[in-house]
Order: sequence, then structure tokens, then C-alpha cells
Amino acid sequence: MSVVQTVVVAIWLMLPTYVPNNAAVVLGGGTPVDFGREWRGDRILGDGKTWRGGAAGVGAGFALAVLLNAAAAQGYVPDFLPTFELRAAFALALGAILGDMGASFLKRRTGRERGAPFPGVDQLDFVVGAFVVTAVLAPGWFFEQFTVDVVVAVLVLTPLLHVTTNLIAYRLGLKDEPW
Ligand code: CTP
Ligand code: MG
Repeated sequence: MSVVQTVVVAIWLMLPTYVPNNAAVVLGGGTPVDFGREWRGDRILGDGKTWRGGAAGVGAGFALAVLLNAAAAQGYVPDFLPTFELRAAFALALGAILGDMGASFLKRRTGRERGAPFPGVDQLDFVVGAFVVTAVLAPGWFFEQFTVDVVVAVLVLTPLLHVTTNLIAYRLGLKDEPW
């Protein structure tokens, strides 16, 4: 694969991972995942992680993967782009949401209030979550698609895309902070 192809494959494969957290921001709210409970004097996750946001995120990521599969089946995209096993589609979206919650867990343990930035973690938490959950739930598909060059492309591109989309969401008034 050329470098350009590798970059395009990386973005394509990560679309079901990028969408969940944005869907959670737009559609989230309501009961927090930790039900308001604390651990050692701080919230377990905080009010920023809700059941509705998590469910909407997983649903949106999975639905997007199904759409991408349909686009590929119709021949709307180049042949070198892979399709998503349904189990992998679910795992990518679920992993993204769990990774984001894992980051909030770490933020609360390190004294960071809801919305406080955690440079590095904020940009890659959902990628690590998606990789881990997909490697466990759909290992055959995962290790076939995420070759070393694709993983490197994902790790380089994701922070750039994340910073850009969050800035846009902030300017649109969807997020309270630009990170
Ligand atoms: N959101 C949600 N459920 C999730 C993730 C996000 O409802 N599982 C919504 C919340 O309204 C949240 C907003 O999206 O405030 C922004 O998400 P994020 O930046 O991840 O949360 P923060 O509020 O910054 O909280 P934290 O410090 O825990 O990251
Ligand atoms: Mg935040």
C-alpha cells in the first residue's frame, strides 16, 4: 500500500471509533454512568459520562460501520478499503466509549474536575479502548486490518483530527471546552 492508501485506510477503519464520542456529546445527558457515586472522595466517573451518551455513541459508531459496509458493497468507495465485521463494528464503537470512560476514571483519580484537560489521554483514550476491545472481541478481523503501518497512521492522525473536530464542536457551542 502507498502512504496515501495507508492514511485513507486508517481514517476509514477509525470512522466507527471517531463518531461515538461526538454522538455522545450531541445526544448525551441524563443519568450518569456512576449514578453519582464516589470513590475515595471523588466521583467515580463524573456527570460527563452518561448512559444515554454511551448508548448513543455505541449505536452511532455501529450504524456508521454498517453504512460504510453498504457504501463498499455498492462500489462507492475504492476497492482497497475493507469492510467491517459486525462484531468488529460493535467492538470499535464500544471500545471508543469505554476508553473515554477510562480516561474520565483516571482524571477523577488524579484530581481533575469534569471538563479538565488531560493532554495526550484526551486525544488517544478512545483509540486505545477501541484497539483493546476489538482485539479481544474480533481478533481475526482486527489483526488482519490493523497492520503496523495502519496503527502508526492512526496514532499520528487521530490527535490531529481530534483537536480539529473538538475545536469545531466548541465553536458551534456543542462542547464547553475546546478539547
Ligand atoms: N457525554 C455523555 N456521555 C458520555 C460521554 C460524553 O453524556 N459517555 C456528554 C456529556 O454531556 C459531556 C460531554 O458529552 O459533558 C462532553 O464529553 P467529554 O468531553 O468526554 O466529557 P467532560 O464533560 O469533559 O468530562 P470528563 O472530564 O470526564 O472528560
Ligand atoms: Mg471533556
